[in-house]
Amino acid sequence: MAAINLNVNGKKQTIDVDPKTPMLWVLRDHLNLVGTKFGCGIAQCGACTILVDGSSTRACQLPVSAAEGKAITTIEGLSENGDHPVQKAWLEHDVPQCGYCQAGQIMSAVSLLKSNPNPSDADIDNAMNGNICRCGTYLRIKAAIKTAAGSNV
Ligand code: FES
Ligand code: FES
Repeated sequence: MAAINLNVNGKKQTIDVDPKTPMLWVLRDHLNLVGTKFGCGIAQCGACTILVDGSSTRACQLPVSAAEGKAITTIEGLSENGDHPVQKAWLEHDVPQCGYCQAGQIMSAVSLLKSNPNPSDADIDNAMNGNICRCGTYLRIKAAIKTAAGSNV
């Protein structure tokens, strides 16, 4: 066990945990931030996607010790009221079906739009390629990303 200093959604906190613990379980089990989902545990599905210093990262493969000193953002930290531009675009296009993959999809979309505010279809396909949706909402995800493009994410 070790004291690990974290900055999650703008809140600084210290937790006592095995430094090898995946960030996904620290978020869910220690910080009660359960919007980030477990899908595969092996970086293959994208359900656990969070932002680390603004870039999409698979929380299931990130040891908590590697998150020290970085700004971690989860789906809960995007906005107070669900009104982040990407969340609003998701609502406008009625994207989710079961919803399980959608936090990860949204975090990947935010990461894309932070680095590329007006992505092409190919850019979107490349960036979202690792986020699996068993319900097949891919077309609505793409439409929502286009709606959110150009907004200040
Ligand atoms: S749970 Fe992390 S990529 Fe699937
Ligand atoms: S909405 Fe069901 S897995 Fe994507």
